[in-house]
Amino acid sequence: MYRTHNCGELRMEHIGQEVTLSGWVQISRDFGGMTFIDLRDRYGITQLVFNMEDDADLCARARKLGREFVIKITGKVRERSNKNPNRATGDIEIEVSEMAILNASKTPPFTIEDESDGGDDLRMKYRYLDIRRNPVKESLMFRSNLAIEVRKHLSGQGFVEVETPVLIKSTPEGARDFVVPSRMNQGQFYALPQSPQTFKQILMVAGMDRYFQIVKCFRDEDLRADRQPEFTQIDCEMAFVTQEEILNTFEGLTKHLFKQTLGVELPDFPRMQYDEAMRRYGSDKPDLRFGMEFVELNELAQNKGFVVFDNAELVVGICAEGQAEAYSNKDIKKLTEWMQRPQIGAKGLVYVKVNADGTFKSSVGKFFNDEQLAEWAKAFGAKAGDMLLILSGETEKTRKQLNELRLEMGRRMGLMKKGDFKPLWVVDFPLLEWDEDSERFHAMHHPFTSPKKEDVERMLNGDHETMKSLKADAYDLVINGSEIGGGSIRIHDRELQSKNFKLLGFTAEEAEDQFGFLLGAFEYGAPPHGGIAFGFDRLCAVMNGQSTIRDYIAFPKNNQGRDMMIDAPSVIHQEQLEELGIDLVKQEEEVG
Ligand code: AMO
Repeated sequence: MYRTHNCGELRMEHIGQEVTLSGWVQISRDFGGMTFIDLRDRYGITQLVFNMEDDADLCARARKLGREFVIKITGKVRERSNKNPNRATGDIEIEVSEMAILNASKTPPFTIEDESDGGDDLRMKYRYLDIRRNPVKESLMFRSNLAIEVRKHLSGQGFVEVETPVLIKSTPEGARDFVVPSRMNQGQFYALPQSPQTFKQILMVAGMDRYFQIVKCFRDEDLRADRQPEFTQIDCEMAFVTQEEILNTFEGLTKHLFKQTLGVELPDFPRMQYDEAMRRYGSDKPDLRFGMEFVELNELAQNKGFVVFDNAELVVGICAEGQAEAYSNKDIKKLTEWMQRPQIGAKGLVYVKVNADGTFKSSVGKFFNDEQLAEWAKAFGAKAGDMLLILSGETEKTRKQLNELRLEMGRRMGLMKKGDFKPLWVVDFPLLEWDEDSERFHAMHHPFTSPKKEDVERMLNGDHETMKSLKADAYDLVINGSEIGGGSIRIHDRELQSKNFKLLGFTAEEAEDQFGFLLGAFEYGAPPHGGIAFGFDRLCAVMNGQSTIRDYIAFPKNNQGRDMMIDAPSVIHQEQLEELGIDLVKQEEEVG
């Protein structure tokens, strides 16, 4: 037998018992006559004592154990003289009488402790060592609990988990597809699903009504802290539903998950229209843990002789409370440079500091007198010691830039508190987005999203400009500035779906070729339906106040999309290529 107990469970009540434990050597400390070893497994750490006087040979063997050796010991539980209140097993230790080395270990390339000295790529390469660390291990356990709660709650609500295929045909959902060559159909490719979108809709036509799936999705897009090329969704769809019912159902799921896994009771989620979110926060995923809302100054600041403002479509700012003193001229210069980096691209940054005596210090003091600046301060509700930060320019761009500044100030001012959760629904997204470069409409959510009922007529018969103003029955769940989920009511009418494809630049043949199966299904009694997908990895991260999703994924990829452990992607053998009908060497020869 390898163990009678695990390394996290022995307490005072076990004193005097003989136990057997197995695990990894976390650390070994040698005090001449005594050697102490911390033995670790998934459940915790238990202190072992080897006494020179009792068994010199055993003690000598213990001294030779290196970090991460796998051992099995038998010994007696005894009370510790110097207890460790920070450890669950800190009241006891094991006086070891027998030890077997189950496996030796090389010295690990980084420390296996809560704070590791390993860089990201090193940790990913030796992920099996990284997962031995508490924070990563606990993240994976949290993920497992969350998945169990998702299944419990949704099945309790009558949802059925259905698996959909992984080898499919491309669906245009914004990102590039990963493709898989077919050996049996040479020259043809499967695509890995960016989401099971079309399948879940077909399941609704098939009468499955409430569907869900915890499912891997694949997107060949640029990676960020909250994006992986393969990630997991809680994917859901319902038939005969309104947007209202969907929002309520999934608000219920979210509340259940927070309650069951964190013990947090979330209040009802506020709803905010997309247009309003853009106006107040410059973002469709506002972080509501803090205010610093946008205040538009066009009326107060234009036509007063400051050309930069006069020429701008929008003059807009935020009020950083109590920051006037904290920012020297040098600090403001640095902040301005931060805003001018190409990633943000602001032209400049105007500040106004509200002095204690009612006067102002501002970078535009030459153009605006104190009386005028007092009006601005009033518009912001600013008081002495506050600092206004103002941008101007083209509306959409300026809002985006100010959103970055708001988030940065929120970070600097410590307003994004861990453990504080501010969920909201952002609703009424535009249906289509006009892309100047390609001169095409793109679906803001995806091509299967329905316009609002009141916009259907305008969509079928309106002109080009009308299309820009169509609103969709689409919604996002946002928590603490992170897009956790998104969904929509779908088009279930063939004619409207065809019109949408046409607007998106598909010819009738292309639409038929790519989506004939869906359009065909719509001719056999498609019920009204809609759904949502949560980013499961993101939900895990946000619930734990983390901005990166990597540690909630057992084997994630790095920013170049590489799996550092198995070293993928990799080249494949010429024979394999030939078998697949992808003979690169031959093709190169033919070409050149
Ligand atoms: P959407 O594309 O908005 O919708 O995706 C749903 C949610 O999935 C998460 N997500 C990601 N998480 C990690 N890495 C990524 N690369 C990544 N991309 C997306 C986000 C996002 O909100 N089929 C539709 C859903 C529907 O309409 O029902 C869809 O996939 O949290």
